[in-house]
Amino acid sequence: MRAKKNTLRNILSVGVMVFTMLSCQTTPNVNAQDLNGKYGLNTYNTPEVVEELQYIEKNIKPLSPKPEARILITGSTAGIGQLTAKTLIAKGYKVVVHARNQKRAEDAKRDLPEAEAVVIGDLSDLDQVKKLAEDINALGRFDVIIHNAGASSSEGDVVFTVNSLAPYILTSLVHKPKRLIYVSSDLHKGARLNLENMQSSTPKISYSETKLHIFLFAKAVARKWKDVKVNTITPGWVSTKMGGSNAPDNLRLGYSTLVWLAEGKDKAAQTTGQYFFQSKLEPNYNKIVDDIALQDALLNAYFKVTNVPFPGN
Ligand SMILES: NC(=O)c1ccc[n+]([C@@H]2O[C@H](COP(=O)([O-])OP(=O)(O)OC[C@H]3O[C@@H](n4cnc5c(N)ncnc54)[C@H](OP(=O)(O)O)[C@@H]3O)[C@@H](O)[C@H]2O)c1
Repeated sequence: MRAKKNTLRNILSVGVMVFTMLSCQTTPNVNAQDLNGKYGLNTYNTPEVVEELQYIEKNIKPLSPKPEARILITGSTAGIGQLTAKTLIAKGYKVVVHARNQKRAEDAKRDLPEAEAVVIGDLSDLDQVKKLAEDINALGRFDVIIHNAGASSSEGDVVFTVNSLAPYILTSLVHKPKRLIYVSSDLHKGARLNLENMQSSTPKISYSETKLHIFLFAKAVARKWKDVKVNTITPGWVSTKMGGSNAPDNLRLGYSTLVWLAEGKDKAAQTTGQYFFQSKLEPNYNKIVDDIALQDALLNAYFKVTNVPFPGN
């Protein structure tokens, strides 16, 4: 009887907690008719992202003097990448946006009309990734490159190709920038690294493992390329299309970490080989990324899978 009462009490308190969480979230104040397709409300962006894009439009002013840095952001047609691009453009930076195809490039030109250029390439197709690297190099050197694009659910090995192989190939083939920023996830902490599976003909790699790959890779790049500042961030669980509208973490603090690192003005942002959450060093991460032998094993596995060597390895 007592056990039954406790179970009932637990169920009730979880219910109250969920209700409180949901009712505390304010409904974004966005109007589909006013937007007329802009920002992809409920198609490629959640209302929370659209509201934040409108906040940036109204509130972020150009810096004086105008900043010089050129910044490339992958996956900047939606979510965190688009919010980062919008903020940096509003501040006066030269930003090149990346879209997966012609249709999404048209969306990006409408949403971010002041972007310097839009480069196109589907990151789930390795030939397109290599062609994208050539197109990026044709635009000249960048000060900052943010590897943000990510997929969380799809068929076959798309998640592995987009989240893990594509940033490796782009990093290896694109002219070195002054700064590299990789977007991982807190979920990397629960992942198990299986480099043999990665080299099989039908690799089965989870989203979490790809986020461990990118973090381990960033640590390797930071160690090998002393002339580049290389860092990794986690945005937290935020309300983009990937994260969903009920995500609990603060969206602005999530993408602002990318803006803060890209600008690199703060002393704490001038470091390399570090992991950040909400613009602060995050000490709580899976320490296997610091294992030099594992970093080198990942580089070798990438080379075997892609046939693209890592420069300086
Ligand atoms: N949201 C979260 O809670 C969360 C948490 C931890 C980490 N992250 C990471 O944060 C990064 C940004 O995610 P987000 O939340 O902003 O998600 P999002 O709103 O879904 O945006 C993902 C971006 O990546 C692009 N992309 C996906 N697959 C692609 C492909 N095959 N080729 C080219 N571009 C592709 C998308 O293009 P389309 O617009 O054309 O789809 C979009 O621009 C990802 O690396 C993600 O893993 C997110």
